[in-house]
Amino acid sequence: MASLYSALSLAPRPRTPPFLRHRRPGGAPAAASTPPVADPKCPAPTSRVFGLDRGRPIDRYFIERFLEAQAADIRGRVLAIGEDTYTRRFGGSRVRRRDVLHLWPEPQATIVADLTAADAIPDATFDCFIMTQTLPFIFDVRAALRHARRILKPGGVLLLTVPGISQVSRYDAERWGDYWRFTPQAVQRLLEEHFSAEAVRIATYGNVRVAAALLDGLAQEDLEPGVLDPVDPDYPVLMTARAVRTERGRRGAES
Ligand SMILES: C[S@@+](CC[C@H](N)C(=O)[O-])C[C@H]1O[C@@H](n2cnc3c(N)ncnc32)[C@H](O)[C@@H]1O
Repeated sequence: MASLYSALSLAPRPRTPPFLRHRRPGGAPAAASTPPVADPKCPAPTSRVFGLDRGRPIDRYFIERFLEAQAADIRGRVLAIGEDTYTRRFGGSRVRRRDVLHLWPEPQATIVADLTAADAIPDATFDCFIMTQTLPFIFDVRAALRHARRILKPGGVLLLTVPGISQVSRYDAERWGDYWRFTPQAVQRLLEEHFSAEAVRIATYGNVRVAAALLDGLAQEDLEPGVLDPVDPDYPVLMTARAVRTERGRRGAES
């Protein structure tokens, strides 16, 4: 049987997919420094860094749309992971205090903790917890979600995003580990272990074209307008969840 490499080499070169904003006369001009899209015969992706070397990463389109829609939840005392860019951008003057949790001391960190063993953070501390693109990098996701709920005030909101179809993040893998990708059903079940079902709202973003472009490392700027928005639930590129800490969790335990 032919290897993947030789099969790719022998395959006729496909025409440029119509959803790509092609960098050729008549298409959008490439920035002088933008590397070209990879030759389809080449087994390497166009970019290994989520298109950051070409423009805005595709997954950030969905993450930022979600946070914009939930901006009213970003208020009071707000916790974010690693940095407070989204707290500032979407919370604005509704935010009374911004906290940043990091695994080890960093200039931006106001709390240094492992979220799976975060007992040092008191119960009911935050009005909002922005946990974007973090669960894939935590092996014990159940423990992380248990603490996420515990440190929210009653009525506090967890704003969660996780990747579905996506490459390994080498940067994260070499630091804290890259363990998981998710499906909508997994997100629902995991959250309902800690939050009551009626307090959880999940959404899925992406389609096969977006998944293919993301895996190739293309950026938002590479895509034709309108490609990002159609949702095909069988190709979840990103999932978002809003979960509210109510008095009782799913198992009826008092909070
Ligand atoms: C891809 S970054 C996400 C950062 C940011 N929230 C964002 O949207 O880009 C993954 C983050 O997970 C954090 N992380 C990994 N393991 C962790 C753990 N056990 N407890 C707390 N944070 C953890 C890392 O410190 C890192 O900031």
